[in-house]
Amino acid sequence: MEAVCAFSVGTLHIPTAPERLTSFKKSIFFSNHVNSHISLVSGGISKSKLFTALSPPPLTESSNQPEAEPEFEGQAEKFDWYSQWYPLMPICDLDKRKPHGKRVLGIDVVVWWDRNEGAWQVQDDACPHRLAPLSEGRIDQWGRLQCVYHGWCFNGKGECKFIPQAPPDGPPIHTSKKACVASYPSSVQNDILWFWPNTDPQYKDILTRKKPPYIPEIDDPSFTKLMGNRDIPYGYEVLTENLMDPAHVPYAHYGLMRTAEPKVKADREGGRPLELLVENLDINGFIADQGWSKSKFISPCIFYAYTPDKPSSSGETQKPSAQKKMALIFICVPVSPGKSRLIWCFPRNFGKWMDKIVPRWIFHIGQNLILDSDLYLLHVEEHKIMDIGPNNWQKACFVPTKSDALVIGYRKWLKKYAGGQVEWRGKYTGALPSTPPREQLLDRYWSHVVNCKSCNSAYKSLNVIEVMLQIISVASIGIVATMKQGTMSVVTRNSLVVLAVLSFALSRWLAHFIYKIFRYHDYDHAFR
Ligand code: FES
Ligand SMILES: [Fe+2]
Repeated sequence: MEAVCAFSVGTLHIPTAPERLTSFKKSIFFSNHVNSHISLVSGGISKSKLFTALSPPPLTESSNQPEAEPEFEGQAEKFDWYSQWYPLMPICDLDKRKPHGKRVLGIDVVVWWDRNEGAWQVQDDACPHRLAPLSEGRIDQWGRLQCVYHGWCFNGKGECKFIPQAPPDGPPIHTSKKACVASYPSSVQNDILWFWPNTDPQYKDILTRKKPPYIPEIDDPSFTKLMGNRDIPYGYEVLTENLMDPAHVPYAHYGLMRTAEPKVKADREGGRPLELLVENLDINGFIADQGWSKSKFISPCIFYAYTPDKPSSSGETQKPSAQKKMALIFICVPVSPGKSRLIWCFPRNFGKWMDKIVPRWIFHIGQNLILDSDLYLLHVEEHKIMDIGPNNWQKACFVPTKSDALVIGYRKWLKKYAGGQVEWRGKYTGALPSTPPREQLLDRYWSHVVNCKSCNSAYKSLNVIEVMLQIISVASIGIVATMKQGTMSVVTRNSLVVLAVLSFALSRWLAHFIYKIFRYHDYDHAFR
């Protein structure tokens, strides 16, 4: 919870916000009175029932030993990476007017709004004609997906409806099966678009048999539900374990948040022993107890933390409606080796006014800074893990304290059930992409801004303001320079000069702000 609290505090770390607001925000996120009641169900089926209904009997065990585990004995149930629902994007960040290209599990898909069916469609991002990416296409006037290379058009089922080069009086070649695009099962749940990564017809109705994990708070109107997403330049495994690791927060995110103060501070940052415990680890994930909070890993994508119900002074559990509740939801998506995508949401049933008046991009300033602050560390760490081999993580890492219990639990789940890493089905050699220049690694524009409606429109608006300030500056100087002596009072002349200087200074400051917030913000731990 602390790790994720760090993230939420990042949400709230608004350097320009007045102190009054900052204090309130700190108080609502760190109040000892905050309680949470979370029940995770899938399509109305309780989690335990879901496990029973959809999976063979789970192997259940306790994993509270922080030490590296010995080799697993016997044959564990095998996790099938391709028989799961995967989130693509929050709906709020999808534009219905254009197709979107997304990669998940190494599969390139095009996501587009099919107005004829009133549904989002997820299809292979390769045109059957000559394999051009359909995500670079457009939606035509009849609501079909048009490949912009030669104009072939497809409907929501993936059927080719038009081949411009085919003579109208010739054979209907567009009806050939070879002219079809493969469609994936998809579903919108919790305001997120999910897809099933298998186009085999046997999975066409998979939604009736297995639903994506359902998170009640996101659909509960009494909760806020601002979401965010970012493409991350390190892999799904390292991303997931990082979000489960509260011990790094006072150090890697120093100054970006406040963690609980230890009784005796051993250093400036305030790290302390943490008694973490993993319970009920099985193929479907695990539950974790962090003392002050509970969390769940729902394999393969969701890490979900919440404050447990707090008994009232009379000893009884408070009514849910009387409690302040919040949840911190992280959805980690495997994209390709060395690349992942994070979708986050922090529903809460208090302080809702803040989300109504503060635009989403303001929250994203702090959230992106949190992600930036350990991004380079994790990128390098992942390369080292790959050098030794992901299956040797337990041997190579020395994890002697209980603060690493969740990370150990997750690595144990990976190794025991899921093959030690994401199954890429031979699409990749296993090598990670090389480390790009720092500016590219910490890029915010392509990893977030273009995929975030709020940041994107703020970026465009602020750029317009910057240009307007420059125009005002140049125009003011121009007027002063061209007006003849005596035709303008000294006061007016001086006012125009001041206006020019101020506009210019403001435009420079704004340019710097835009670059730092929406393009690139280097992060130097040594001087924090
Ligand atoms: S590649 Fe798509 S129409 Fe030719
Ligand atoms: Fe954003």
